[in-house]
Amino acid sequence: MKGIILAGGTGSRLYPLTRMVNKHLLPVGRYPMIIYGIDRLRQAGITDILIVMGKQSAGLFIDLLGSGKEWEVHLTYRIQEEAGGIAEALELARSFVDEKERFVVLLGDNLFVDNLKPFVDSYMRQSDGTAKILLKHVNDARRYGVAVFDPNHPELISRIEEKPSVPLSSYCVTGIYMYDTSVFDIISQIAPSARGELEITDVNNVYAHRGHLEYDMLKYWWSDAGTFESLQEAGRKLKGRQP
Ligand code: DAU
Repeated sequence: MKGIILAGGTGSRLYPLTRMVNKHLLPVGRYPMIIYGIDRLRQAGITDILIVMGKQSAGLFIDLLGSGKEWEVHLTYRIQEEAGGIAEALELARSFVDEKERFVVLLGDNLFVDNLKPFVDSYMRQSDGTAKILLKHVNDARRYGVAVFDPNHPELISRIEEKPSVPLSSYCVTGIYMYDTSVFDIISQIAPSARGELEITDVNNVYAHRGHLEYDMLKYWWSDAGTFESLQEAGRKLKGRQP
């Protein structure tokens, strides 16, 4: 199984820090943010990893990570020319994975301590053409994708609402996704959103609509370090952690 870390985008909620450097290279505790995602994949036994990054700071990623040898992984890189959305960044992984292969996708600003191995194992038991996402209970779901459950089949997600002003559940969709290559067919069918991006939520909603979107819950601490507050919280939480 392969892993993909999406580390493009503009990081505009962290301006002016991200005018200088890509968000995923900002310090969290004692390490640059990107290290934690690599660590979570490696812990699950996934060592063949693609990093999708923007042009900004591309050289710094190589300075830090090189081939991945020091971190006991094998790294491949792709450049996303413009921040055209999470699904557009994922599309760049098409030639990285083999036909029918399954893979884990992490948003590079998602930090967490759960071991991914049990989730990956359960995804491997799912049928072809299905996806799995990981959810987390949060107090205020308004700044995330939010899972809406089917009242008759609570084991299924009927749809995801992206950043709703009135969330219909307290379960946010984390940036931890598991797909097979069917995801690339879906990406090629979706259209850019009102903000001009190919949205991962639109992709996941195609799976949900087909009844092909399964989920699990993260048990332990999780944060998306995309704002100053959450970046600081992540720094405090992960300060003593040794990837
Ligand atoms: O963190 C979880 C949330 O992430 C989910 O609940 C939402 O459903 C999902 O849409 C996403 O929302 P955000 O608004 O937080 O996404 P953001 O634009 O901050 O991008 C998250 C990561 O995706 C970022 O760390 C890098 C990567 N990315 C993003 C864009 C827009 C790319 O690699 N390329 C891109 O063009």
